[in-house]
Amino acid sequence: MHTLIEAEKNLDKKGYLDISVPATLDLFEEIQKLKKEKNAVILAHYYQEADIQDIADYIGDSLGLAQEAAKTNADMIVFAGVHFMAETAKILNPTKRVVLPDLNAGCSLADSAPAAAFKKFKDDHPDHIVISYINCTAEIKALSDIICTSSNAQKIVESIPQDQPIIFAPDKNLGAYINKQTGRNMLLWNGSCMVHEIFSLEKILKLKTQYPGAKLLAHPECEEAVLKYADFIGSTTQILNFAVKDDCNEFIVATEAGILHQMEKDSPHKHFIPAPPNNACACNDCPYMKMNTLEKVYLCMKYGLPQIVMGEKLRLAAKKPIDRMLEISRSVGLIK
Ligand code: 13P
Ligand code: SF4
Repeated sequence: MHTLIEAEKNLDKKGYLDISVPATLDLFEEIQKLKKEKNAVILAHYYQEADIQDIADYIGDSLGLAQEAAKTNADMIVFAGVHFMAETAKILNPTKRVVLPDLNAGCSLADSAPAAAFKKFKDDHPDHIVISYINCTAEIKALSDIICTSSNAQKIVESIPQDQPIIFAPDKNLGAYINKQTGRNMLLWNGSCMVHEIFSLEKILKLKTQYPGAKLLAHPECEEAVLKYADFIGSTTQILNFAVKDDCNEFIVATEAGILHQMEKDSPHKHFIPAPPNNACACNDCPYMKMNTLEKVYLCMKYGLPQIVMGEKLRLAAKKPIDRMLEISRSVGLIK
């Protein structure tokens, strides 16, 4: 049995608790017990491994997860996702303990916008307002006027007067897609997601020939060349809902493969084919999302570590644009 002090030391080196868990332990049962004991809620993104999705209290896209984090009564928020998501939960819940199973679970998109370089970019365009995709660090949020997610980006941009110049960061693919949808000419930061950028258009087109009836569903973080062939473009939740409601029974899915678990659960009679990347793999996993395991979820709940810690000045500055996003989303009827 480790003490909390030993656990903290262990954490310093690793970013997760490297404590062995007996193979005989029923992790599902133990996690359920810990939920009650600690008054904890597990929020999971669709890209998490299947076992984590199955034990979660809420599974959702970035907007849904932010909303859920904003309204929870739990004392401990277990964020089964990546760092910027857990950070968003902490920004909205300063007095709650927010734990992330593995602190190394970052995001290539968030990494593509270092705060100092972004501040200079912003200072070079003083007449622009900044809309940032939620997949960014707290420092970038603090430099932004409004946050958006892939499910509300278009509505958020449309809520800004036409003559107001906008910087959109950090995802150039989502930015370019929204520019196309809205006829705007937002200035785009040159960032991207390593998972959505490596889909192979050639292999996708081959799959389309192999399954001529299948519809291509794509996340807007994908490159324009892939989006051009998509039958539906949307956030993870929107893709999932489309597949449930649509008459088609076969879909090629161009987003992280973790989402197939819920798609198959929601529509067991339908066939989902993951879009292949540009390498030897058959589907596309986010290496950061997949750092979290059921064991790490158990350990972070048991010890309350690793937790997200943030200075109050940064938190308040980062909260403003998130509140703005939630307000606009409410006012246009996207959320309640
Ligand atoms: P959404 O779940 O908001 O569609 O975001 C996808 C993603 O890349 C999260 O990291
Ligand atoms: Fe970041 Fe892309 Fe992974 Fe999402 S899928 S966490 S955007 S690297």
